Amino acid sequence: MSQEPLSNLLKENRRFAPPPELAAAANVKADVYDEAAADRLGFWARQAERLTWAKPWEQVLDWSNPPFAKWFVGGELNVAYNCVDRHVEAGLGDRVAYHWEGEPEGDTRTLTYADLQREVNKAANALLELGVRKGDRVAIYLPMIPELPISMLACARIGATHSVVFGGFSADALRTRINDAQAKLVITADGGYRRGKPSALKPTVDEAVADTPSVERVLVVRRTGEETAQHERDVWWHDVVDRQSDRHEAQPHDAEHPLYILYTSGTTGKPKGILHTAGGYLTQVAYTHHAVFDLKPETDVYWCSADIGWVTGHSYIVYGPLANGATSVMYEGTPDTPHRGRWWEIIAKYKVTIFYTAPTAIRTFMKWGDDIPAKYDLSSLRVIGSVGEPINPEAYVWYRHHIGADRCPVVDTWWQTETGAIMISPLPGVTEGKPGAAMRPLPGISADVVDDTGASVPNGGGGFLVLKEPWPSMLRTIWGDDERYVKTYWSRFEGMYFAGDGAKKDDDGDIWLLGRVDDVMLVSGHNISTTEVESALVSHPKVAEAAVTGATDPVTGQAIVAFVIPRGAAEDEADGEEFVKELRDHVARTLGPIAKPRQIMVVPELPKTRSGKIMRRLLRDVAENRSLGDVTTLTDSSVMDLISAKLPTAK
Ligand code: WT7
Repeated sequence: MSQEPLSNLLKENRRFAPPPELAAAANVKADVYDEAAADRLGFWARQAERLTWAKPWEQVLDWSNPPFAKWFVGGELNVAYNCVDRHVEAGLGDRVAYHWEGEPEGDTRTLTYADLQREVNKAANALLELGVRKGDRVAIYLPMIPELPISMLACARIGATHSVVFGGFSADALRTRINDAQAKLVITADGGYRRGKPSALKPTVDEAVADTPSVERVLVVRRTGEETAQHERDVWWHDVVDRQSDRHEAQPHDAEHPLYILYTSGTTGKPKGILHTAGGYLTQVAYTHHAVFDLKPETDVYWCSADIGWVTGHSYIVYGPLANGATSVMYEGTPDTPHRGRWWEIIAKYKVTIFYTAPTAIRTFMKWGDDIPAKYDLSSLRVIGSVGEPINPEAYVWYRHHIGADRCPVVDTWWQTETGAIMISPLPGVTEGKPGAAMRPLPGISADVVDDTGASVPNGGGGFLVLKEPWPSMLRTIWGDDERYVKTYWSRFEGMYFAGDGAKKDDDGDIWLLGRVDDVMLVSGHNISTTEVESALVSHPKVAEAAVTGATDPVTGQAIVAFVIPRGAAEDEADGEEFVKELRDHVARTLGPIAKPRQIMVVPELPKTRSGKIMRRLLRDVAENRSLGDVTTLTDSSVMDLISAKLPTAK
């Protein structure tokens, strides 16, 4: 990392004011920032009152042993009760909790809050029968079916700590995670539907649990009906859960009781088990879901397209929406099954009003063409959100126009598995939207951009994104490794949490994320962010997606190498030298000559992690003519063959 601030090359001046009607009726108004700043802990205490506590807390925050935080000290609550039962007790049992849409068309289930209560109670009773007790860990490896949130809530109810492992992960990845957490039970399914056909899960579990001494039983949901091997430790969900009583008395648990572990892979080393606890986590996911999406639980239909295997799904498909009594859509499959309009068809079918997705999906839809969403009635939408990566300004504007009809505010939400909940985001009824900016820390959150010495940068400056005060949904530690927790997150800058991301403040003091600092390029002594060059490329009308990396260069230290996917109709004309020259000139014009890529390769796909993030490390290997590093976390490893095959045409 060099002393110089990150680049501040991108000039983006478009502004979108909140729609007046939405602003007038918004859940959260501008004064809340001052209110929270005046008394941060008082603000969070008021947000915690959204929940029902069995025993009130004595202290909002105990920060006497930093960086180990305790929130709502002495308080007790049951997370499942808060997400389910209390809504039923309030007379809302008939409200739909989930409109579940299977991938095969017509395969749907509707779960009201009363249904959910019965299902969660039965599952909780089944877990107890299978020997699971408070404090035990349960690994969950399921497709996007209702039994997934039901299993999570059943664990929360009895005080077992869940560890959801994304269904796309390998046996190896599953085994490592089961062993690290010493899970006693694994909940899985025979399989799920993906891309129009059954995709098996159980064989992966069988392979993983061959070497996991802590696992006593495997609970299997029948989803696809495909044949699976039967082992002595296996029990069918329909055999053991269905016959249970649908009543279960929820006991309160301590506010700091471990709710779940979720593993982040990181780029190096063994996965980190990020630990979240009950009270603070539920407080912040509930508040942010209410504030950032302006959720009106009586009328809104909310859809987050993430997989529950990621933190986005934990916080904004399961815990946040349910704590708020929201009606959600949950979809099992891929966006292009059986056709590329499936998501828009779902929005039209359920009259979705709030939609939350990722830049990688938005850029894919840009590539597929504007005509596809244009065929569907998306007029029910009123707020649309983005998470997972910096959203390129052009992708933001496309999303706002083609999905949001230039009417819906776009909320670009910055957060991480570690933060548990949204930290930096516009408020849709308050904040002017700037394409590409996550804007401001939410009320009650202290985020800043600092230089190499940890000093706050002035407006217009760039540097490192840090969090300066603890927040309720923060990770409590890395499971079983307090030392690694301190070293990874709290050691770079004294007394601050370092998120690993580069960021800049614009002249108004609003925050723009610039990608992981590991990805920053150093070209002729200038720090240049991959995000800015990628956004410049995506702003060319013929480019749908771009990934940029720095390759060693004898003259400039590092040189910029870009990989681009052409957009829709431009695909045919996109080979040739002309096109590459046009793009290089375009970047030089947009950002300045220093940012002009040395090479641009036109490729059909980009390497992505299973959560949709571009793996620039692999592209650097290609750009530097090295053999490829670890490709096991790639969604589709054949992508790298496609890219390598393109190499001779590199410019
Ligand atoms: C990293 C965290 C948070 C749920 C999904 C990802 C990047 C996330 C944004 C955004 C720019 C973003 C950051 C962050 N990121 N949201 N709105 N703008 N970058 O969770 O897998 O833990 O990844 O995703 O680099 O550190 P995760």
